[in-house]
Amino acid sequence: MRVSVHGCGYLGAVHAAALARLGHEVVGIDVDPARVAALAEGRAPFFEPGLAALLAEPGGAGSLTFSTDVAHAGVADVHFLCVGTPQSAGSGVADLQQLEAALAALRPHLRPGSVVVGKSTVPVGTAARLATDLPDGVRLAWNPEFLREGHAVADTLHPDRLVYGVPDDGDALVERLDAVYARLLDDGVPRLVTDLATAELAKVAANAFLATKISFANAVAEVCEAAGGDAVALVGTMALDRRIGGEYLGVGLGFGGGCLPKDIRAFAARARELGVGPAVSFLDEVDAINDRCRERAVVLARTACGGSLAGRRVAVLGAAFKPDSDDVRSSPALALARALAAEGADVVVTDPQALALAQAAAPELGYAADAREAATGADVVVLATEWDEYRDLDPGALADVVRSPRLVDARNAVDGARWRAAGWDVRSLGVAAPRAARPQSSSPTA
Ligand code: UGA
Repeated sequence: MRVSVHGCGYLGAVHAAALARLGHEVVGIDVDPARVAALAEGRAPFFEPGLAALLAEPGGAGSLTFSTDVAHAGVADVHFLCVGTPQSAGSGVADLQQLEAALAALRPHLRPGSVVVGKSTVPVGTAARLATDLPDGVRLAWNPEFLREGHAVADTLHPDRLVYGVPDDGDALVERLDAVYARLLDDGVPRLVTDLATAELAKVAANAFLATKISFANAVAEVCEAAGGDAVALVGTMALDRRIGGEYLGVGLGFGGGCLPKDIRAFAARARELGVGPAVSFLDEVDAINDRCRERAVVLARTACGGSLAGRRVAVLGAAFKPDSDDVRSSPALALARALAAEGADVVVTDPQALALAQAAAPELGYAADAREAATGADVVVLATEWDEYRDLDPGALADVVRSPRLVDARNAVDGARWRAAGWDVRSLGVAAPRAARPQSSSPTA
């Protein structure tokens, strides 16, 4: 099929490349010339494992081109809208300007029989509104995307489910989408056909649930810190209950990125507009628990340094909002680094992939090329993003370069016993203060 993809960011670039892999003739459209130039040369404009390989060699019978000129989309039969829907400045409401602009640019190139498919995350009701304003003979479906950054290629080519939101008389739209995803359907991927509103909500409800699960674990962690329990062990007991499962119960610094934080706020804002705000007002609490994770991590670092961070050198390992990504949007790691700096610490941040974006977002912080450089002379090392290379650090070697071997493991990522054996004072979220500081005898007082 001939397909166009509008918006070539974390979602659209992967979607375009994956559709080419599935055998389609794909053109990706983006307003950013630098991004289009990189993609056209087969280079991924951001870090996403597997994307570069897919761009270089989509494979199969498909083809993949990119352009800033939306006229190139005119040949396509199906047009996917994959632009960002960020949080509006000053409110939780989703900002739909990019979506409106992409559709306005595409409109002159639509013809009877064209199908527009929204993949962006939108407030419920958006699709029905957009559908009323299309040229004659053009239909609209909503097909939310559930990919995770860092796993985007696999999630797109092997999704858990496909959701098609279509209007009442949408059989032709279902057929068209089935043709787009024929290979995935052949692989047995479940496909659910819903109305437009349900499909829009399917995405935000899933993200809200994931955020709630994460904050539940971190809320329990706060109780453990007060009560003397161990939250990591506790969620381990919950995870074995098949009704609960262990995913998204990580005790640590909480969620960030371009999706979960803004999606729970947009969901709550839309519910308020619909007069059902109380139904999801718990999401405000989910947000607040998430914010407190960073505050609690600052307390751990401050306590480790004897009560004040002023003038202390702090190495922050990780700037990306999660491992295997260079994305620093609403990054808990970067927020923590800023909060530490606000207490007067001399903060040096490092990250395997996100350094350039972190530096652009927070130029006031110090940066280092790797963990060893960041940790040199540090009074405390804070593990903020659980990249494998930080989990695998040699605590003995790192102890040689720090000023004091103190680790705040804000992601519960390392083997604490191994680090303690190498002389480190290890503190982590979710355990009571005396145990967080264990062993007391190794706590240096520099
Ligand atoms: C999320 C959803 O997982 C995707 O299904 C969805 O398609 C996507 O948003 C989107 O809306 O486009 P993503 O933002 O890429 O994907 O990242 P996740 O892997 O879900 O992680 C989100 C945040 O939660 C990260 O900061 C991660 O560190 C944090 N997290 C995750 C925890 O703090 N604890 C956990 O146990 C799991």
